[in-house]
Amino acid sequence: MDAVIAILPGDGIGPEVAAAGRQVLEAVAEQYGHCFTLTQHAIGGAAIDAFGDPLPAGTEAACIAADAVLLGAVGGPKWSDPNAKVRPEQGLLRLRAALGVYANLRPVKPHPQMVDAAPLKAERLAGVDLMFVRELTGGSYFGRKGRDAEGAFDECRYSEAEVERVTEVAAKIARQRQGRITQVDKANVLETSRLWRSTVSKHLAAKHPDINLQHQLVDSMAMHLLTQPASFDVILTENLFGDILTDEAAVLAGSIGLLPSASVGGERGGLYEPIHGSAPDIAGTGMANPYGTIASVAMLLRHGLDLSAEADTVEWAIDQCLSAGVGTCDVFGGKGVSTQQATAAVLAVLAGAARQRVAA
Ligand code: IPM
Ligand code: MG
Repeated sequence: MDAVIAILPGDGIGPEVAAAGRQVLEAVAEQYGHCFTLTQHAIGGAAIDAFGDPLPAGTEAACIAADAVLLGAVGGPKWSDPNAKVRPEQGLLRLRAALGVYANLRPVKPHPQMVDAAPLKAERLAGVDLMFVRELTGGSYFGRKGRDAEGAFDECRYSEAEVERVTEVAAKIARQRQGRITQVDKANVLETSRLWRSTVSKHLAAKHPDINLQHQLVDSMAMHLLTQPASFDVILTENLFGDILTDEAAVLAGSIGLLPSASVGGERGGLYEPIHGSAPDIAGTGMANPYGTIASVAMLLRHGLDLSAEADTVEWAIDQCLSAGVGTCDVFGGKGVSTQQATAAVLAVLAGAARQRVAA
């Protein structure tokens, strides 16, 4: 197939992990006979430095026109002045809005090899297989915000339509899994949460009555995620709660550096990025974990380009590397290898698989 993929390296370790993603895309194209046109564009702090804008018009237009977008990470201390007029993160938020990607999928499934790396007891991790569906273009992230004489405010607003469309995404995913959705909110306090609760219930009852729906308050969910993570299937929640809970859930996977995400729902193939940040403390050291980005490439192939065999192979290649104990030091401590070595290991597994397909 022919596809245009826009790559946005961003800041900190973003360029290092994006380079790993690019190499995997190139290998997949060659091994499966696809023609991927990979373009590269500035976003975040790097774009503020070069263009004075965290989402330059050229980047936005290229992403809207692309079949799918792969992003590294944005942000860093250089642009973190609380009085700054523009921030790197605004580039990412504006891009999510421009692409209309209202559903953010974040799978969390600890690899058996990772059980030792995770701070939780092994028996708690057995059987953990979660899919977070985080609403991505609404809530306090996008509400009116500002300052007045007394202080500051961030308005949290949700329409029924916004809740319904992301619920539909969650329902379709739940159908292919265990058929269970846990909807997380703070309905004992927030009016938006009460709207979420009633809208999700109504929508599922009307369209997906066979899906098992539970509601859970976000504070107790924060605890249950660590005490009984294996009891959940699909977790559906609003933008801010999803941001917080998915970082917490990364603890279950052993390292946040392993986790991918897909942002979908727009007209085109969507936006794919590791869930970790720009990690300025390790930028340039060659220590960044490329697997979260490579797993995001797998999600891009599956959800963005409908290439599920290719996606499966990339995910399998990461699994093989982890099983063989090959990965960066966030997962393997002193035995960890560099970003490039870990990427090379994935590429070697992919090349081996390609040779086997030819031989078969
Ligand atoms: C994430 C990140 C972003 C978010 C930041 C960088 C704006 O934390 O993707 O989880 O809060 O959505
Ligand atoms: Mg986050």
